[in-house]
Amino acid sequence: MAVRVAAMLSRLLLQLLLLAAASEALNGTRHHHHHPISRRRFPEGFIFGTASSAYQYEGAVKEGGRGPSIWDTYSHQHKEKIIDGSNGDVAVDSYHRYKEDVRVMKHMGMDAYRFSISWSRILPNGSLKGGVNKEGIRYYNNLTDELLLKGVQPFVTLFHWDTPQALEDKYGGFLSPNIINDYKDYAEVCFKEFGDRVKHWITFNEPWTFCTSGYASGVAAPGRCSSWELGRCSVGDSGKEPYIVAHHQLLAHAETVRLYKEKYQATQNGSIGITLIAHWFVDPYSRSKSYYNASRRATDFMLGWFMDPLTKGDYPPIMRALVENRLPNFTKNQSELVKGAFDFIGLNYYTTNYAYNLLPPPSPDKVTYNTDARVNLTGFRNGVPIGPQVTTGHG
Ligand SMILES: *[C@@H]1O[C@H](CO)[C@@H](O)[C@H](O)[C@H]1NC(C)=O
Ligand SMILES: *[C@@H]1O[C@H](CO)[C@@H](O)[C@H](O)[C@H]1NC(C)=O
Ligand SMILES: *[C@@H]1O[C@H](CO)[C@@H](O)[C@H](O)[C@H]1NC(C)=O
Ligand SMILES: *[C@@H]1O[C@H](CO)[C@@H](O)[C@H](O)[C@H]1NC(C)=O
Ligand SMILES: *[C@@H]1O[C@H](CO)[C@@H](O)[C@H](O)[C@H]1NC(C)=O
Ligand SMILES: *[C@@H]1O[C@H](CO)[C@@H](O)[C@H](O)[C@H]1NC(C)=O
Ligand SMILES: *[C@@H]1O[C@H](CO)[C@@H](O)[C@H](O)[C@H]1NC(C)=O
Ligand SMILES: *[C@@H]1O[C@H](CO)[C@@H](O)[C@H](O)[C@H]1NC(C)=O
Repeated sequence: MAVRVAAMLSRLLLQLLLLAAASEALNGTRHHHHHPISRRRFPEGFIFGTASSAYQYEGAVKEGGRGPSIWDTYSHQHKEKIIDGSNGDVAVDSYHRYKEDVRVMKHMGMDAYRFSISWSRILPNGSLKGGVNKEGIRYYNNLTDELLLKGVQPFVTLFHWDTPQALEDKYGGFLSPNIINDYKDYAEVCFKEFGDRVKHWITFNEPWTFCTSGYASGVAAPGRCSSWELGRCSVGDSGKEPYIVAHHQLLAHAETVRLYKEKYQATQNGSIGITLIAHWFVDPYSRSKSYYNASRRATDFMLGWFMDPLTKGDYPPIMRALVENRLPNFTKNQSELVKGAFDFIGLNYYTTNYAYNLLPPPSPDKVTYNTDARVNLTGFRNGVPIGPQVTTGHG
């Protein structure tokens, strides 16, 4: 379990901006074609960047008026679920060392830095009513100005899994539709304060990961799942909550995109989108129709879950068929709002899995997102890994 959590956390660290240059590329060689990779081989205007998330980088969790998020709570209350029992209290101390960090980025030749804003550093109590934290605004102004001074473009993620603890306590965070307005208010503070300089906004980072790790497997904050799931959580429902949380993230995203487009885009001239994650899935025995179907289902349950609403206004038909009345409905208005609500789609890609039909079918008293797609995802075929392993556990 710890290894899974750590692997998940390491994803945050490893994210690269846009079409991430693979680690092999950074190493200068590839096995398949023996040309060294250099910037010259990329199109004009290709943006190289690096990325981080607030909780993993900032530290200073109790400084500058920041309120707690669900990650503070989780990492302190569930040390056993973190590979080395550590937490983000200090992290890499980017709150104090951001100038040094920007200098390193510049030295590496980065064009852009995608960082996330800690919602509870801006609104310590999650909502406007609890007050705006001026010191938090000053920190992100400092960071943004430092980036621009060094010629590094800021790309801002508004939510990288760190729901303000106050909202988790008040109404269950993303389990409640109340989150939609509070999120929109928070985003608006950011547009007002930073939108003169920030031209790329990402509403949510990997909503899939937040839903599945936080609410299906229960191996990340807020650590909710059914008692028999991987995280052996004391509260949660792995068959329902991931879908509700995804639904509210999509609605919060769409409302916020509409707000930006109606009120800020014309004057601030920025663009707004969302970052999704997708593995690639392959049929282990190739060209068998039922196995091909398994890989399609796996894609629909991971990428389609978000991409279909964003492009078509509803969840993939196969999800409707398999999840039935546990899958929330969009009203007609919501569907129209969500459809097309983006200027760009970010895609995080890490790995490929084999997708097998799940046999035997999941037991009806253990309903969970993790088996709803009726696929078994693995990196192995007859004991042979799908490719060279490039990461092991990370602490
Ligand atoms: C990087 O390239 C060197 C030389 O080709 C090789 O020995 C090394 O294993 C590579 N490292 C990684 C992480 O791929
Ligand atoms: C902050 O949120 C908590 C939990 O909902 C609430 O009890 C408290 O009154 C709030 N404080 C302010 C200043 O809004
Ligand atoms: C922002 O920068 C100013 C000027 O360098 C500094 O005095 C202040 O402490 C910084 N504040 C934060 C929160 O980083
Ligand atoms: C808006 O952004 C585009 C693309 O970055 C740029 O070409 C254009 O000049 C900008 N317009 C204004 C009014 O800043
Ligand atoms: C594959 O999926 C299609 C469409 O969903 C279905 O009609 C077909 O029966 C499936 N085939 C197998 C072998 O499961
Ligand atoms: C969604 O709508 C369908 C058909 O109108 C209905 O059968 C189903 O119960 C609804 N689902 C939820 C979660 O309300
Ligand atoms: C749906 O959208 C229309 C047009 O924007 C609006 O007039 C109507 O009040 C909305 N209905 C609901 C239930 O929000
Ligand atoms: C998933 O597939 C692998 C490889 O075929 C197998 O070893 C494993 O038992 C399967 N897991 C489940 C839950 O079916």
